[in-house]
Amino acid sequence: MQDVIAFIDANRKRFVDELVEWVRIPAISSDRAHDADLRRNAEHLAAHVRALGAARVEVWKTPGHPAVFAEWKAAAGAPTLLVYGHHDVQPVDPLNEWVTPPFEPSLRDGRMWGRGVVDDKGQVYIHAKAIEAFIKTAGKLPINLKLIVEGEEEVGSVNLDALLRDHAADLASDFVCVSDTAMFGRGIPSLCVGLRGLTYVEVTVDGPALDLHSGSFGGGVANPVNALARMIARLHDDDGRVTVPGFYDTVRALSDAERREMAALPFDEKEWLRATGASATFGEKGFSTLERIWARPTLDCCGIVGGFTGEGAKTIIPARASAKVSCRLVPDQEPDDITRKLRDHLQRIAPPGVRVRVEELHGGRPYLAPTDHPVYEVAKRAFSKAFGKPTVFMREGGSIPFVRTIADATGKPCLLMGFGQPDENAHAPNEWLDLENYHLGIKSAAYLYDEISRMQ
Ligand code: BES
Ligand code: MN
Ligand code: MN
Repeated sequence: MQDVIAFIDANRKRFVDELVEWVRIPAISSDRAHDADLRRNAEHLAAHVRALGAARVEVWKTPGHPAVFAEWKAAAGAPTLLVYGHHDVQPVDPLNEWVTPPFEPSLRDGRMWGRGVVDDKGQVYIHAKAIEAFIKTAGKLPINLKLIVEGEEEVGSVNLDALLRDHAADLASDFVCVSDTAMFGRGIPSLCVGLRGLTYVEVTVDGPALDLHSGSFGGGVANPVNALARMIARLHDDDGRVTVPGFYDTVRALSDAERREMAALPFDEKEWLRATGASATFGEKGFSTLERIWARPTLDCCGIVGGFTGEGAKTIIPARASAKVSCRLVPDQEPDDITRKLRDHLQRIAPPGVRVRVEELHGGRPYLAPTDHPVYEVAKRAFSKAFGKPTVFMREGGSIPFVRTIADATGKPCLLMGFGQPDENAHAPNEWLDLENYHLGIKSAAYLYDEISRMQ
């Protein structure tokens, strides 16, 4: 390992420069105008890993954006690790809030700034560079390694299930490692052992056939904006609990031990709140902030539109209103079941005189890691070697649909070894990557491959 680590130290600057080149490609998966950029993005990565001695590199087409697959073979009998990441990025608006342009990455304050630097291109390159370090020193990897990097994570991984089914044999492995999460805090190596799932719907409320004069018609017919606002308001009770019947039916209660473990983490709630800019914490009664974010389901209205929103006043009863609503889910909630319950409930509480449509946009299932599996101790050791600190277990409130899908399909444990920072501005203007984390992340991945090679 000495040579490998020395190589990583010696090439620290070049590894940063190479990531800068990849981040320049604006691979926004939600915008059809960027379809060609997604293809270019995948080809760029494919060419990059081809040059790192991969035995097999393929760009897999999907009905949406392509995924990249690569494979390195080690000695026969060595374990096989499947590494996952995504190459697509989030949109950049509001563009005028970026200090430097999102696709012209800049290096300031020990950070790289740009869209996708940490979510998730930087974390994909962490593995690519760890692989390179072995190939250029030892000539091969100590384990068999497969890399799958999808191009539709930020739009709900809608074609992923079919891709995994079609390529089940190609993706067979002993362990899975996903690097697409953040660490608990500065310099604290953190293995994420739980993710929430998701269901995301669009609710449309139709009333009159066209906008009506609110003097002539107001008071005579239902107003879709009023109706939708009332319906959304009724989805929570005064204790912050979701009122959709059956919503909590399959929610696994936190054990006392789980609650103790979460409470023991060095969580500075004041500091956390300050970073959000909100004036107080808020949420389901009876649970701490970390419990609410990591282990309790939520329902949130992500956006709402309808009626007149231009300058000045316009007296109408609008024809239509719509809202985007997402639920974060925890074990053992199922996206399809919750979507159906939410849809039925919204239909039930709609006032007379409006029509309600609920369209499902995407979903993903929650994940809880089998932390008694020995690979979690192995990963802790690897992470701690690189960062020189004890590794903690944490959860994340976010979702990565691949994780549960691959875990269910293969029955193998999935390590969530992430290298982001909690305040990295993912999905927001001024996303940044901590360059020290990038460097130590490459070492962590290298130690992980090495430690796994020595598991029996
Ligand atoms: N990298 C994130 C997942 C994540 C979120 C990790 C928060 C750690 C903290 C991922 O790219 C993401 O944004 N996922 C989406 C999934 C959705 C589009 C299905 C999410 O959580 O909103
Ligand atoms: Mn991500
Ligand atoms: Mn993301």
